Amino acid sequence: MTEVLPSKVLVTGALGQIGTELVAALRELHGNDAVIASDIREIDDHPVITNGPFTVADVLDKDALEEIVIDNSISTIYHLAALLSATGEKNPELCERVNVGGLSNVLELARVHNLRLFSPSSIAVYGPDCPKHAPQITPLNPTTVYGKTKVAGEVMARYYWEAHGVDVRGLRYPGLVSWKAPAGGGTTDYAVDIFHHAIKDGNYDCFVRQDTRLPMMYMDDAIRATLELMATPVESLTDARAGYNIAGCSFTAEELADAIKSRVDNFECTFTPDIRQEYADSWPDSVDDSEAKNDWAWEAQYGLENLVDEMLANLIHKYEVEA
Ligand code: NAD
Ligand code: SER
Repeated sequence: MTEVLPSKVLVTGALGQIGTELVAALRELHGNDAVIASDIREIDDHPVITNGPFTVADVLDKDALEEIVIDNSISTIYHLAALLSATGEKNPELCERVNVGGLSNVLELARVHNLRLFSPSSIAVYGPDCPKHAPQITPLNPTTVYGKTKVAGEVMARYYWEAHGVDVRGLRYPGLVSWKAPAGGGTTDYAVDIFHHAIKDGNYDCFVRQDTRLPMMYMDDAIRATLELMATPVESLTDARAGYNIAGCSFTAEELADAIKSRVDNFECTFTPDIRQEYADSWPDSVDDSEAKNDWAWEAQYGLENLVDEMLANLIHKYEVEA
């Protein structure tokens, strides 16, 4: 008789900014051994990831992914492997291959093996024609390749749900601000880098203009939103299921710098916009998340002030411990 193994969770792109924290949260929920972390990068040791199983896996290698799914009785995939906006615009062909091709592989595995799937989208699905307070439903005309891959991802996810009944869910994450892992090549990363430079150097040269306002979110809210969405009964979800808007807080680069200045003596911030300004300018200032509020009672807990307090307290402690 074949032994029936308990079902497990697979996280792709697990060494990234979100993966590092999502793996920890999922292991809290399901137990360390039940969550298989994977990434294209190798690691020897890692403060979070190596407290449970880790395997090297390229999401473009569907056969290798399928072997992991079968060998470990995977029932749910959190698919985080991707290239973000700044890295993606430098290498659009790879961005399309990883973001669209990787998702296509994972969706097919979900269809064949009856898996549940979480596939993140982004505020980058919006383009310059979108109202500055972005509605859930509006034409999606992004100008970045990264944004186009995220629109394609939402369309593919909806198709797999409608045509094949694959329970795939997604969130349009705002720019995520966190301290545990480095941010990975995005435009909103200025809002992470600024904290490290404020603490280490006392100054920061920001790569977007001071009046650049973007939707942002503290990582704890993003992880909670992910777990809440995945725990919601399927019948509560609407057509937004492949990319619910979720709002955290919205601030300009100058408002963030001022909030840090009021807490870090002598901190100086200058602004020297580069190509990432163009990507930021094409995105909305804030998002309307009323569908997420209605469908699964989404509510953010972090605004600008408590986000800044948490970032500074945690990073100062981290640097002290590492010193
Ligand atoms: P990240 O860049 O920090 O991490 C992505 C991980 O994917 C990296 O560890 C990388 O090594 C891995 N990866 C790249 N190519 C791979 C491949 N071929 N196979 C396997 N792994 C591969 O990104 P993140 O911030 O953790 O983002 C995760 C997801 O969330 C992405 O889909 C991203 O578009 C989305 N998202 C992130 C943000 C944000 O602000 N961080 C905002 C909106 C949406
Ligand atoms: N935070 C991401 C980026 O800046 C948006 O998805 O690329």
